[in-house]
Amino acid sequence: MFQTPHWYQTAVFYELYVRAFQDSDGDGQGDLQGMIQRLDYLADLGVDCIWLLPTFPSPLVDDGYDIADYYGVHPDYGSIADFKALIAAAHARGLRVIADLVLNHTSDQHPWFQASRRRQEPYTDYYVWSDTDQKYADARIIFVDTESSNWTWDEVRGQYFWHRFYSQQPDLNFDNPAVQEEMFKVARYWMDMGLDGFRADAVPYLFEREGTNCENLPETHAFLKRLRAMMDAEYPDAILLCEANQWPEDVRPYFGGDPTDASVPGDEFHMGFHFPLMPRLYMALKRGDRSPVADIMARTPAIPPNSQWATFLRNHDELTLEMVTEAERQWMWEQYAPDPRMRLNLGIRRRLAPLLDNDRSRIELLNSLLFTLPGSPIIYYGDEIGMGDNIALPDRNGLRTPMQWDAGFNAGFSTASELYAPIVADRTYGYQRVNVADQLSNPTSLLLLIQQFITTYKTQPALALGDIRFLHHPDRAMLVFERIYRRERILCLHNLSDRGIAIHAPASHDLLADVDWSEGVMTLPPYDYRWLKVL
Ligand code: BGC
Repeated sequence: MFQTPHWYQTAVFYELYVRAFQDSDGDGQGDLQGMIQRLDYLADLGVDCIWLLPTFPSPLVDDGYDIADYYGVHPDYGSIADFKALIAAAHARGLRVIADLVLNHTSDQHPWFQASRRRQEPYTDYYVWSDTDQKYADARIIFVDTESSNWTWDEVRGQYFWHRFYSQQPDLNFDNPAVQEEMFKVARYWMDMGLDGFRADAVPYLFEREGTNCENLPETHAFLKRLRAMMDAEYPDAILLCEANQWPEDVRPYFGGDPTDASVPGDEFHMGFHFPLMPRLYMALKRGDRSPVADIMARTPAIPPNSQWATFLRNHDELTLEMVTEAERQWMWEQYAPDPRMRLNLGIRRRLAPLLDNDRSRIELLNSLLFTLPGSPIIYYGDEIGMGDNIALPDRNGLRTPMQWDAGFNAGFSTASELYAPIVADRTYGYQRVNVADQLSNPTSLLLLIQQFITTYKTQPALALGDIRFLHHPDRAMLVFERIYRRERILCLHNLSDRGIAIHAPASHDLLADVDWSEGVMTLPPYDYRWLKVL
């Protein structure tokens, strides 16, 4: 029994930072109108859905994840009319748009917090206040480089407030039904405007309970299920994508349904990021050993038939090393972040291409894994052309530099004399060398290869929807798995080493090279890969 796939189960996503994409009014900041001008690029690339980083009014302590007004657009980016125009323009090209929904916290500049700290009703209990900073002591600190406690004293109120991220981001009190209702209102407001759903930020932390680590609590799941039920009833085509940086068995309940029976439809999130897979791709590649990937996939529970994982190589944050052991974290830091400036919190603040020494074959290899392992792939803007980063910039800003469109003034990003951040201009990754225009006209470019990956992915439902079966090969550097869907089988081969490896391959069609392979032994060159449709 096969059901018709839901759109998000076969979609390719593109994570986009509006400030970095295109400046339409010459103020040095990317904006929504600029993004509209660049939508054809995304449509041609072949992605299905854009995920927008926060565009709300914000003091930008956490680059917009500190929201000061859930119903507006930051003036740097434009207006609500621009947002509507963006959605219309995207939809006209068959592109969907989801946006970040920050449920857990607001900015300390939000009027709710300003009222709450003055005990003004009805906002007195909108946040988590306490006379002591000793409550919930088992909750870890996430931004370890900047915060030493999850409590901060507020002079105005004369109490401590709870925050899981920066101290300028007070956590909302989800025990207050009025807060829950506010979030329903916010979600409806944006979906009424035509938004296709949300990437729900930092969801494990919505509720706090003494004696727990304050993550993944039953109350949190109950609230999220109510949100999903509302969406199913009122916006059945819109999705919720779960950002829970957790082990697969802890993410599984976020899909809802019955965690012991994957045939029961999910009733919580439509999608969830697979965080632990991501560092293991880098680990496997550096070690030339498939085990980290095979082991985490073996530990990944089956998910409901109406759900999908979301997979990624990089995003706008540091490459998180929260879901690895302490020894593995140290090893990853040594291997991938030798300069201390490359490290941030429990992670690595670098982009894909620099992490892989700008080595084309390894960049291709990881992208090939992104498109062949289970889950809807998410491309982080700029990684499709191999953009670099700037570790001289603070926090995660070095990964959020302007998009490199061409070799001209300001890389085609803006006409301003001063930009929100410098364009990467070094000898290896600078815009003169790495830009969209050059790659569009170069048939062997990374960009056109990624475009081919997307096109091929879309013609092969097995890559999006198929079961996965790992096959044994005597060489641990050879990662071999099949994706199986209905009568189709795609054999995916990945050589994680710098030497050729021989493998017996069945009669098949090589989907990327578009040639037939008659059964026999092939030698896969270093870091090479094959997508073989078994005949
Ligand atoms: C986002 C970060 C942000 C944090 C707090 C995360 O999960 O991805 O960029 O700093 O939530 O909102």
